[in-house]
Amino acid sequence: MAKLWDKGYRVEPDLEAFTTGDDYLLDRQLVEADCLASIAHARMLAKAAILTGEEADKLAAELRAIIADQRAGSFTVTPADEDCHTAIENRLVERLGDLGKKLHTARSRNDQVIAAIRVYAKGALLELFDAAFGLAETLRAFAERHERLPMIGRTHTQVAMPSSVGLWAAAWLESLLDDLRLLATAWELADQCPLGSAASYGVPIPIDREYTSQLLGFERLQNNVLYANNSRGKIESVVLAACAQIAVDLSRMAQDLINFSLPEFGYFIIPKELCTGSSIMPQKRNPCGLELIRAKTSTILACHDQVLGILKGLPSGYNRDLQETKRPFLQGLALTLACVRVMDLTVRKLEVCEERLLAAFRAAPEVFATDEALRLVAQGVPFRDAYRQVAASLDKLQATDPRASIAQRTHAGGPGNLRLDVADAALARLKEFVAQRRDRLRRALDALLGS
Ligand code: ARG
Repeated sequence: MAKLWDKGYRVEPDLEAFTTGDDYLLDRQLVEADCLASIAHARMLAKAAILTGEEADKLAAELRAIIADQRAGSFTVTPADEDCHTAIENRLVERLGDLGKKLHTARSRNDQVIAAIRVYAKGALLELFDAAFGLAETLRAFAERHERLPMIGRTHTQVAMPSSVGLWAAAWLESLLDDLRLLATAWELADQCPLGSAASYGVPIPIDREYTSQLLGFERLQNNVLYANNSRGKIESVVLAACAQIAVDLSRMAQDLINFSLPEFGYFIIPKELCTGSSIMPQKRNPCGLELIRAKTSTILACHDQVLGILKGLPSGYNRDLQETKRPFLQGLALTLACVRVMDLTVRKLEVCEERLLAAFRAAPEVFATDEALRLVAQGVPFRDAYRQVAASLDKLQATDPRASIAQRTHAGGPGNLRLDVADAALARLKEFVAQRRDRLRRALDALLGS
């Protein structure tokens, strides 16, 4: 297929293959978003009297047909197309003749690809929010179910103080909620429409950028046309930074679960349907899902680094380097979603072994050392003296009832007072934030799709 920039000379095939790389494959994920942005652009061109209403309708109908073909698997982007923008324009010209050639008035592929990535990203972020809300609810239910179930609390991995399964689960819940606050901020940056910024410097005709932005369901127009182009990769990196926080939490949680489900601990059991086996050792039940969450977290961190690394030396305005931010962005988002889903599945099916949790206290009475020192403090002994007394007679420490110890930790956020309602309120606020945005996006996109 002809390139959009074809001017009648032949580019070296090796250079062409190098510049296209796997971008045409990645762009298959952007076809629908690119068509939606094009429908909005066509409508704006009609409003600006650059196209007639009838011409915009014809373009919109053909763009919707491309979306239908894409969903049915019969539209594709080939290496010869170079990218989805070319594949779509070529199809429009093939079906609509000269009208197809008019659509690119007042835009560049530079603002076009940013818009497509943002529309795509908002859909992907909604999916990620939903999956993360699911995990938050699973953690919440797990924390409530085992709210006062004693578990040894550790620092430096060593025995520290009495804690509970509820505290452990609610800690990851609150951490996830903070990650989701970051993701909501990332959404706000992604929710800006770059269209009309064109190659980086706008166009010398009076287009209505606000109108395109509204039609596409964006919260606001990204004002400065040069910044709109400079923000490519920047906004991707902010989304990936939020993904990185989610992934790091999941990775650490995975490590806890791997440790606590070792036979030597036995606090938790990962059911066999969540374990894979060994080809040589008949007894093995390996927590491969959790191990891969750990490893994929490194990939997600690398995606974030890669995007910022590409940006850091770039001059203002579009540079082809920006194409290279697409892969880590799409990959980082997809991996984060997959990790959240696997963790949700794992926690939902996790078995808890009360007997082993309690046995651990009997085997390590030193876990009560601080409780004992504070008991002496209550009798009037200064804390440092009480600390030394207990340290000098650790071997005499008796294992007491860990439930009673937990029940005494009643200050805010302690194992005896998890205050799950604090997390509930934060989760409800986040859900409301997402519901409003989902609604606006859905209404706008339904209108563009004519449904
Ligand atoms: N595939 C390109 C990208 O992702 C599309 C924009 C091309 N723009 C250009 N000036 N060559 O950046």
